[in-house]
Amino acid sequence: MPAAFDALKTRLATEPHTWLVTGAAGFIGCNLVEALLLLGQRVVGLDNFATGHRRNLDQVQASVGPEHWKHFRFIEGDIRDVDACRSACAGVDYVLHQAALGSVPRSLEDPLATHAANNTGFINMLVAARDATVKRFVYAASSSTYGDHPGLPKVEDVIGKPLSPYAVTKLVNELYADVFGRCYGMESIGLRYFNIFGRRQDPDGAYAAVVPKWVASMIHDEPVFINGDGETSRDFCYIDNVIQANLLAATSQHAEAANQVYNVAVGDRTTLNQLYEAIRANLAPRFPHLAAAKPVYRDFRAGDVRHSLADVSKARTRLGYEPTHRIGEGLAEAMDWYVADLTAR
Ligand SMILES: NC(=O)c1ccc[n+]([C@@H]2O[C@H](COP(=O)([O-])OP(=O)(O)OC[C@H]3O[C@@H](n4cnc5c(N)ncnc54)[C@H](O)[C@@H]3O)[C@@H](O)[C@H]2O)c1
Repeated sequence: MPAAFDALKTRLATEPHTWLVTGAAGFIGCNLVEALLLLGQRVVGLDNFATGHRRNLDQVQASVGPEHWKHFRFIEGDIRDVDACRSACAGVDYVLHQAALGSVPRSLEDPLATHAANNTGFINMLVAARDATVKRFVYAASSSTYGDHPGLPKVEDVIGKPLSPYAVTKLVNELYADVFGRCYGMESIGLRYFNIFGRRQDPDGAYAAVVPKWVASMIHDEPVFINGDGETSRDFCYIDNVIQANLLAATSQHAEAANQVYNVAVGDRTTLNQLYEAIRANLAPRFPHLAAAKPVYRDFRAGDVRHSLADVSKARTRLGYEPTHRIGEGLAEAMDWYVADLTAR
C-alpha cells in the first residue's frame, strides 16, 4: 500500500495549494492536472500545443466536472519566452515542469528545436520559479541520462555518456537544477522517468511512444514494427505511478529529499517481444483479427539503449514512493481507455 501517498492525499484535501503544470496539454501534464484538480488543488497550466492537444484538456474538464474545473487556469504560452514563464509562476507554490520536446529520433533530426524547448525553456522556467520563490520545482528528467552505461539496474549516481541530443538536454536540466540549488538555495527534484505509458498518450505522429503506437496499429490492423530483434528491454511505468512520484516529490519533508534526482519506474524488465504479446493478448478478445498476429522486425534504431531497468529504492526511501501498478495492471487500464478513444474517433 502506498502509505505516504495516501497520507499526502488526505492532507492535500484540507490544504489546497497552487500548482503550475507545464506541458499541461501533453500526456503526463494533463494527467497531473486531472489528479491535482480531483484533490481540490488550484492548478495553472502552461502549454504551447507543440505536441500536446486541446482534446486532452477537454477530457480532463469532462472528467473532473465544473466544481473542480473552475480551479484551473490555462495559459497558452511558450517556455522559450521567459515572460510567459514568469506569468505562469506568479503566486505558485509548486511547479511540476513537464513541457519539453520528447523523443530521441526527433532530437536526432532537429537538435536545435529540442535544445530550445528543453534547455532554453528549462532555464527560463528555473529563473521564473526562483524569482517567484516557489516552494519546490519538480521537473521531468529522463532515463536517457544513463546513456551508454551498461550497469543494471540503473542507480541514480552512476550514469554514462548520453547517446542522443535529447539525452544531453535532460542531463543539462539536472546540472542546472543542481547549480540553482547551490547558488540560489532553490529546492528542486528531478524525476528520471523510464518508459511511461497510459491514458491520453498520443498514438499519432512519427515520434509516438511504443505502447500507444502499437495499440493503435493493432486495433487498426496495421503492421507493428519492432526495431531490432525484440529482446531490447524497458522498465515500463504506468501514469498513476508518475502522478504519485510528482506529488510526493513536491511535498516530501524528508531531510534529504530535495536537490536530488530519482528514478521513476517499477523495477520490472519487459522485452519488446513480451510487450507485443501482452498488448496483443489483451486486445485479441475484442479484435479477433489479432488472434494470430505477428510483429514485423526491422533494423535497430539509432540512439536507443539496449536495456533499461530501474532501481527505485531511492524514491521509496526518501519520497515514500510505492508503485501501485506493474505493467500488466497498467496495460489493462490503459487498454480500456485506448479502445474507447480510438474506436470513437
Ligand atoms: N513519456 C515518457 O515515457 C517520458 C520519459 C522520460 C521523460 N519524459 C519527459 O516527460 C515530459 C512530458 O512528456 P510527455 O510524454 O507527456 O510528452 P508530451 O509531448 O505529451 O507532452 C509535452 C508537452 O509539452 C508541451 N511543450 C513542448 N514544448 C513547449 C514549449 N516550448 N512551451 C510550452 N509547452 C511546450 C507540448 O505541447 C506537450 O503538451 C517531457 O519533459 C519528457 O521529456 C517522458
